[in-house]
Amino acid sequence: MCGIVGYVGPRGSEAVLLGGLGRLEYRGYDSAGIAVLSNGLEARKRSGKLQELRDELVANPIHDGHTGIGHTRWATHGAPNDINAHPHLADDGKLALIHNGIIENYAELKAELLEQGTVFTSETDSEVAAHLVGRAFRETHNLTDALRVVVNRLEGAFTLLVLHADEPDVVVGARRNSPLVIGLGEGENFLGSDVAAFIEFTDKALAIGQDQIVTITRDNVAVIDFDGNSVTPEPFTVTWDASAATKGGWRSFMAKEISEEPAAVANTIIGRIKGERVDIDGIDAESLVSVDRIVILACGTAAYAGLVGKYAIEKWARVPVDVELSHEFRYREPVISDHTLIVSVSQSGETMDTLMAVKYAREIGARTLSICNTQGATIPRESDAVIYTHAGPEVAVASTKAFVAQVTALYLLGIAIGQANGKGDPAELAAAVRDLEATPTLLETVLQQGERIATMAKWMADTQAILLLGRHVGFPIALEGALKLKELSYIHAEGFAAGELKHGPIALIEPGQVVFVIVPSPRDPNSLHAKVVSNIQEIRARGARVIAIAEQGDAAVLPHADEVIPIPLASSFIEPLLAVVPLHLFSMELAAAKGLDVDQPRNLAKSVTVE
Ligand code: M6R
Repeated sequence: MCGIVGYVGPRGSEAVLLGGLGRLEYRGYDSAGIAVLSNGLEARKRSGKLQELRDELVANPIHDGHTGIGHTRWATHGAPNDINAHPHLADDGKLALIHNGIIENYAELKAELLEQGTVFTSETDSEVAAHLVGRAFRETHNLTDALRVVVNRLEGAFTLLVLHADEPDVVVGARRNSPLVIGLGEGENFLGSDVAAFIEFTDKALAIGQDQIVTITRDNVAVIDFDGNSVTPEPFTVTWDASAATKGGWRSFMAKEISEEPAAVANTIIGRIKGERVDIDGIDAESLVSVDRIVILACGTAAYAGLVGKYAIEKWARVPVDVELSHEFRYREPVISDHTLIVSVSQSGETMDTLMAVKYAREIGARTLSICNTQGATIPRESDAVIYTHAGPEVAVASTKAFVAQVTALYLLGIAIGQANGKGDPAELAAAVRDLEATPTLLETVLQQGERIATMAKWMADTQAILLLGRHVGFPIALEGALKLKELSYIHAEGFAAGELKHGPIALIEPGQVVFVIVPSPRDPNSLHAKVVSNIQEIRARGARVIAIAEQGDAAVLPHADEVIPIPLASSFIEPLLAVVPLHLFSMELAAAKGLDVDQPRNLAKSVTVE
């Protein structure tokens, strides 16, 4: 939530900031603004998408300089209008501040400032921080010191960037439970919510820890903690380049990212399979032997990946797995032991609910492993170990390729534990490894149905509600499909376990109701195929319009479905990876048919960095 970029260097800062904000816009797109130091400080901000700010800068140009900060907002406190947009100015317009997060004690701080006569122009919590830093600067005459004074008074989560006209060529940032990374250039330095902010200029980055403050100038980067002690930040090199964060000729980021699902799986297994064994970089097999329970913590799509992973890990490693929404885990008293492995799953690595749940789990003695797609992100840094999914940057707000990469990483983990603890059937584990290696090619086959799925979506552009049924690993796929439909096409969509149908949801079936059914293979070892085909008959008898996602050549489904989307023959644990692709494609195409913005759906932001 909220994208942040800062720059000091020889380039014109307006272009650097707008370029960075363009790549960060997926984080929030309610409003955007920049502040630049040239002869004094100038700021422009506008509600709406970044293009509104670009238009404003054409209509009302800024005197460009070489130091600046920029922000794209997902509103928390105060409506998404021009006034509440960032930057917020203080100290007679000489100081500008941008903020990501929520300052929980802002009301009491605001009351204090009001009593001292401070005039507020916005309804935001962020403006409080701007005035506090302005006041501290008047005493300290040093922007780093001023920010340090203030962050020690703030409660909640924040990334703050500030600049001041009396201290040119300096940007100071601070973070607590909210993301901030440093980009290192030659004679220039950058700050960003994530590396996309500066990837056009440098792939060299430094990760800033919790409760740290960074001061950048053209030639220097200095990091201290909130007590003022010097800190050495951790360097890393970004493994993708700027072209990965562009549409590359595709009509939307989402279309591009769905097309990258085969590569997301391939890149996540690459280097982690040695013969028939799984060997995950940084995870030693010994440490997996003693794991007697796994709790997967995640939100949204990542939690559905976790649910798919549960079925596979329990089968392959014979270790019980619970999947819990991070925000629920944290506010109860979960029973865990030092043999419990907490596995967090997060594309961004910044989801506040998951971050807080991981921290809590560590506090109460669990071992933590992060499955994450973003280098330098907070959750992996707060965890004992990490398995990076190598899906590449995911820019579209709704998650697609990250999902298949997360499931792949969980499968690798399940196989690795099964091979380490000796509880899995070796032949079955070896087969699972081979199946995973074959998956990218199968996914390519599914993608070939894109045009047909687009045509189906066009016919259905007026559909108001869609139900989805799945069983076993098809159940989380029904949930994921429903979430994608809600997010992208704004229709009511609900996923159910097919076995639940007669326990209630069948009451929703009326003539014309569209139901997607994820059908297990007729070769399914649990014989679930026949049960799901019976479910199809039950809903069809009540007038439902059935779209089955079924194995190619499944003759039993054909007579009972209005449409069949075939997926190639695969083992039961590879089926969900294949079945989700038509649902991703359909959700995108339905949104497109309705004329909606598939990359930036309303009200959403990609990284949910507030609770
Ligand atoms: O970055 P994370 O994977 O932690 O994000 C978790 C959810 O917020 C995310 O999957 C969300 O549900 C997406 N909008 C799904 O498309």
